[in-house]
Amino acid sequence: MTPRPNPIIAALDVPTAEAAWKLARRVAPVVGAFKIGSELFTRAGPEIVRRVRATGAAVFLDLKFHDIPNTVAKAVAAAVRLDVQMLTVHTSGGGEMLRAAEESAQRAARECGLPAPLVLGVTVLTSLDDRALGEIGFGSSAAGQVERLARLAVQAGLRGLVCSPLEVAALRRHLPAPVQLVTPGIRTGAEAADDQKRTLTPKDALAAGANWLVVGRPIYAAEHPRAAAEKILASLT
Ligand code: C5P
Repeated sequence: MTPRPNPIIAALDVPTAEAAWKLARRVAPVVGAFKIGSELFTRAGPEIVRRVRATGAAVFLDLKFHDIPNTVAKAVAAAVRLDVQMLTVHTSGGGEMLRAAEESAQRAARECGLPAPLVLGVTVLTSLDDRALGEIGFGSSAAGQVERLARLAVQAGLRGLVCSPLEVAALRRHLPAPVQLVTPGIRTGAEAADDQKRTLTPKDALAAGANWLVVGRPIYAAEHPRAAAEKILASLT
């Protein structure tokens, strides 16, 4: 039996390449991947992705592409060439955009001789509630919209989604089993919830059906980030 991979994705939500690099070296042995988001990527560029990949760690490039299909396809191909293992696109970009993203990931990976990264669909941002959705012209509730966009993403060929911890169980009931669910909003109970309103513990999120856990502040803002990550890992068994 192959052991389950380490499901912890440590978010490198720090402002500089040096801070990211220091954090990545400290916690690489005890996490499964690192997430690089818009702030760090805009500051440090593709070089930080290459440096983190050079440690052997998997990289989740969280730039949430949302544009016309041709542009998204080219951005996805560029991410594949950086050898990232996961990346994000907004499912509200529509079925054609999502198909273009997945096809581009597969094609670019073949051309580079790399495994295709997981193209993850972002459904409804957790910062949007029903009122905010109404404001931008969406009639359905956040929960209904999440389900609708999740189905669209899977029909378009995406093999994974990002979702809030409280959406995991419902999505698991509706989606094919192989769809990978990646969940932020993870809190151990020992630290503040910060601005996360809907949280689960690492163990509960996995039990609800998540495959991967995005953990930011509980690791990078801890006094001892490596010890914090080790504790989270130990809590999973
Ligand atoms: O510090 P914390 O653990 O809350 O960080 C969670 C990470 O997941 C951040 O990088 C944040 O941008 C990201 N994220 C989120 N909620 C979403 C999507 C992404 O918190 N719905």
